[in-house]
Amino acid sequence: MKVTDFILTVFCPILFFSIGVNSVDRHNFKTCEQSNFCKRCRSMNKSQNSMFHLVSDSIILNDKYLEAIIANTNYENVFLRMRLDGLKDKTLRVRINENGNPMYNRFQPVHALVSEPIFQSMTMARNETTIELELEQSTIKVFINIIPFKLNVYVHDELIIGINHNNLMQFEHYRPKPETIPDNEVGSWEEFFKEHQDSKPRGPSAVSMDFTLYSSTHLYGLPEHADSFYLKETSGSDPYRFYNLDVFEYELYNTMALYGAVPFLMGHGKKNSVGLFWLNAAETWVDIAGVNNNVDHTSVVESIVNLVSGSSGEKEVPQAHFMSESGIIDFFIMLGPKPMDVTRQYSLLTGTAPLPPIFSLAYHQCRWNYNDQKDVHNVETNFDVYDIPMDVMWLDIEHTDSKKYFTWDPIKFSNPIEMIRNLTNKGRKLVTIVDPHIKRDSNYFLHNDALNNDLYVKNKDGNVYEGWCWPGSSSYLDFLNPKVQEYYVSRFSFNNYVGSNEDLYIWNDMNEPSVFNGPEVTMPKDCIHYGNYEHRDIHNIYGLMQVMSTYEGLIKRSKGNKRPFILTRSHFAGTQRFAAVWTGDNIAEWSHLKISIPMCLSLAISGISFCGADVGGFFNNPDKELFIRWYQTGTYLPFFRGHSHIDTKRREPWLFDEQTTSLVRETIRTRYSLLPLWYTLFRNHELTGAPVIRPLFFEFPFEDNVNNIDNQFMIGNSLLVCPVTEPNVQEISIYFPGKDEVWYDKDNFQPIKINGFVKIPVPINKIPVYQRGGTIIPIKQRVRRSSSLMKDDPYTLMVGIDLKGTAKGSLYIDDEDSFEYRDGKFIHLEYEFINNQLISKCIHCITLTTNSWLEKVMIIGIPSVFSKASIHSKEGSTTELTVLYSASNQVLTIRKPSINIAQNWTIILL
Ligand SMILES: *[C@@H]1O[C@H](CO)[C@@H](O)[C@H](O)[C@H]1NC(C)=O
Ligand SMILES: *[C@@H]1O[C@H](CO)[C@@H](O)[C@H](O)[C@H]1NC(C)=O
Ligand SMILES: *[C@@H]1O[C@H](CO)[C@@H](O)[C@H](O)[C@H]1NC(C)=O
Ligand SMILES: *[C@@H]1O[C@H](CO)[C@@H](O)[C@H](O)[C@H]1NC(C)=O
Repeated sequence: MKVTDFILTVFCPILFFSIGVNSVDRHNFKTCEQSNFCKRCRSMNKSQNSMFHLVSDSIILNDKYLEAIIANTNYENVFLRMRLDGLKDKTLRVRINENGNPMYNRFQPVHALVSEPIFQSMTMARNETTIELELEQSTIKVFINIIPFKLNVYVHDELIIGINHNNLMQFEHYRPKPETIPDNEVGSWEEFFKEHQDSKPRGPSAVSMDFTLYSSTHLYGLPEHADSFYLKETSGSDPYRFYNLDVFEYELYNTMALYGAVPFLMGHGKKNSVGLFWLNAAETWVDIAGVNNNVDHTSVVESIVNLVSGSSGEKEVPQAHFMSESGIIDFFIMLGPKPMDVTRQYSLLTGTAPLPPIFSLAYHQCRWNYNDQKDVHNVETNFDVYDIPMDVMWLDIEHTDSKKYFTWDPIKFSNPIEMIRNLTNKGRKLVTIVDPHIKRDSNYFLHNDALNNDLYVKNKDGNVYEGWCWPGSSSYLDFLNPKVQEYYVSRFSFNNYVGSNEDLYIWNDMNEPSVFNGPEVTMPKDCIHYGNYEHRDIHNIYGLMQVMSTYEGLIKRSKGNKRPFILTRSHFAGTQRFAAVWTGDNIAEWSHLKISIPMCLSLAISGISFCGADVGGFFNNPDKELFIRWYQTGTYLPFFRGHSHIDTKRREPWLFDEQTTSLVRETIRTRYSLLPLWYTLFRNHELTGAPVIRPLFFEFPFEDNVNNIDNQFMIGNSLLVCPVTEPNVQEISIYFPGKDEVWYDKDNFQPIKINGFVKIPVPINKIPVYQRGGTIIPIKQRVRRSSSLMKDDPYTLMVGIDLKGTAKGSLYIDDEDSFEYRDGKFIHLEYEFINNQLISKCIHCITLTTNSWLEKVMIIGIPSVFSKASIHSKEGSTTELTVLYSASNQVLTIRKPSINIAQNWTIILL
């Protein structure tokens, strides 16, 4: 949502910050230099020895974990406590906190974790200088240097990652405020940004650590940033910043903070991938170094690393320096070795996205705002008139009674239940917005409840904090308080949220939280939350806490029957368990279309697969070429929603010329035909953590050439997509990975067998999408006005054979919206094409039946030697099938096998 209009109209007299006309006003947001702790941590001296060492006689080794006291050579009586755990599936965890009772509790964002991580036992040994730990039958070894404290992690005796090798570990213990503050500590006890004072009554409390990723050549992850997919050197710029912010018209290709923070990083090299998860919810900056070349360092590492002196001195080894304003040091190392192993290991910690209801994978139509229920009705019926499928209508803030969430404008939306029923009649849904700021209005039940029950965040003086947001003067629910969580959950019951029913779903926006008159458009850091934590300690997890309660609310209102759907703007590690994420308030410009791909890829490898960007661009008006290309791109990203700002021209797909409408129709219909694939991939994601969309290096980890590619991606392991994100192009250059691969053009089945770049013509109706030889994709060819109307429709199998003449795939089916699949009510089929036979194997078919049948099979890339086919089902019956062969594109079509999809059968080509 756009802050400007509001500020300009309402706040002109007290204009807090100047507004850039067409891009972010950088001056509203801090640089590292302006963030005192970042400046302190960043200026630490790499060549000075680390001030931290283990106290030798404090080291406790048992078979579960290692514990030790860490001393700080700069402060005689200050001690830290370190604990190292070996965890299930090649994962290590290190936690460092103050020893004993610190003056203030240090926040630990446990809600990011799906559950308490599972231990695995280690063997341990030590001498005077070194501790040695071994896990996983000694394939993993950890060496800890006692003085100074440093860590090395080896897999198969190869150094993978080094910790504190650059001596950048920091842990500022809480201390009484000195009577007179020394000059060099002024910014540690109070800090100003523009006209905002951060009172910092608790003083300096930063933590930091450096990591050297010896086995990696490339680093990825650290969402959310509007930047390239591969992480870049930060020595000449600011570090990557994590501080969830409502950034107006964000700028591209820089490290500024955005709406979300997932402090997860993946290192990748030819031999090995490794994950690093820094579990901290405070403002965090990450310096990246040593990522300028593509050399594999593992061979030179042995000679240059000395555990005691630590620093390798080799600039080219990738390094990451994490710096957080408060909290504890708590990090996880995931040892792969493949990219897919790292995501699995990370998802064991933070969880996976539960299978979404299928409508949420279809097309969504949003605008700030659909004016009234009549407008909703007109737009919805026009989708039918123009024969464009659509599943969900969305209502932004204007649908409420003067920005009071959980209410309806009594005039414009006088009959929400009828409005929803009209949608439901066509299998459609409604989403309404529910933001965390609460209008301070004594006629608003929610505000009164919050005041009466003490549910609001407090300011530094202990009074209810007041900020400005959409409703004007607002206060903010303190979602960290279990009492608030319980209250919020109950708001979503059908009795409490009048005008809602089970076909209404929720959009949590502005939950960074956005505060128009706050420092950096958010809440002051010295505000106080439940548990006596400062806002500074918990900032990045605030949005996650709102989304958690919303999720619980949607579960409860249906007594656990229906799957929730929630969209959130702010996110943190673990958000995938509750909500989909979009990339916020983008702009109708080609560059913003282009960046949507690396932004969603970064999220996907960091646990959050369910991602999309506002199709068409939120601000400004796209021309028709951009509009078409954006729909063509959005079709292939997991979350697919058209959205636009209140000041933009209406842009429902039929408001352009006929060609535009028809191309948009075509691409949305393609999305619907591919829903069985998306659904099967999301099921697989829930079970394994495998990202739904993937960078090329996930499927081709040994191919150096793909490491810097971020305009192409894979959907599962089967589709290669390279959307057109530039205007006026006749052709684009697409990289085809893999030595022995064949790729089939989705439109005409022409094979491409080149490993390298190929120029592909891209007229306006062309979306370059290729099916990988060796895969089988389930689709539905009869597209209807909404996904639920297609539930019982028949399937077509697209069999793309590889150079060996084989292919594999799978299909997952259930009731598409309840939790009964968790009781086993689902169908899982595995397909294999081998020896000129297509085999359907029912892996799980007993507890659910379906009316869907197999309508067609297309075998792509097959020579013309077959003239017949027969299908053999489990009862021993054999039926002859007609086949049609197209020599021009080598496709054999088998029509009407007419067998129920949930069966074992074999089709034999003759
Ligand atoms: C860093 O430490 C080294 C060794 O103690 C010293 O020579 C150098 O001047 C220091 N650099 C800075 C910037 O403080
Ligand atoms: C202590 O153990 C480490 C690692 O096993 C070894 O390299 C080092 O030489 C040993 N030091 C002493 C003093 O035995
Ligand atoms: C529901 O649909 C009917 C029939 O098209 C229409 O007359 C009515 O106005 C709609 N109601 C709402 C609230 O949109
Ligand atoms: C399909 O075959 C598998 C063995 O391959 C068997 O376990 C399963 O019960 C069969 N399913 C049906 C529905 O016949």
